[in-house]
Amino acid sequence: MRQGEAFVTTRTEEETEYIGMVVGKALRVPQVISLQGELGTGKTVFVRGAAKGLGVRDHVSSPSFVLLNIYRGILPVYHFDFYRLEEAAELEELGFEEYLPGEGVALVEWGERFPFVMPRERLLVVLERFYDHGGEGRRLWFTPYGDTAAAVVEKLIETITWKVDGTLNRVPLVFNDDPGGLGG
Ligand SMILES: Nc1ncnc2c1ncn2[C@@H]1O[C@H](COP(=O)(O)OP(=O)(O)OP(=O)(O)O)[C@@H](O)[C@H]1O
Ligand SMILES: [Mg+2]
Repeated sequence: MRQGEAFVTTRTEEETEYIGMVVGKALRVPQVISLQGELGTGKTVFVRGAAKGLGVRDHVSSPSFVLLNIYRGILPVYHFDFYRLEEAAELEELGFEEYLPGEGVALVEWGERFPFVMPRERLLVVLERFYDHGGEGRRLWFTPYGDTAAAVVEKLIETITWKVDGTLNRVPLVFNDDPGGLGG
């Protein structure tokens, strides 16, 4: 692993959502997050958590068919899914440049399908399914490009702790004030 990279292991949907929430909570400036990983590895679950961490109250559903959902949070949340996108040209019709990152946080499922449309400054999250003695799990790899992304990964590593049984300590995060947010 290179400097600034990290990975986190989760065993349940709730744990992945929690990791997303910590990331969302750490973000108070515009940022692009690119999510890569096979079908059903938890990209949408992660986005659901990140949206919560950004103060979104609406239910977050997969934008597979609509390509983009926008939610109102402390910052706007742009949830993209590039899976069904045939070519990058469709993105131009959508005016995606306005959102990457735009004024808010853009979370892009299958973002690396069109790497050339992604800004260099982004947080890359690769989700991987694995099986071991404990059953099924997910490995979430974080690769930050740029200072904001690096600070988010640092904040994540600083924040999360595990119980002795190996499950994630999902301590409630404080939302009313924002001393924990970056740049806010
Ligand atoms: N550790 C885990 N983290 C996240 N999801 C998990 C985990 N273990 C099992 N799951 C299950 O895996 C599925 C993840 O679904 P999700 O829709 O988030 O995947 P996705 O990566 O967005 O897929 P797609 O590429 O189809 O959009 C859910 O059904 C969830 O319950
Ligand atoms: Mg999805």
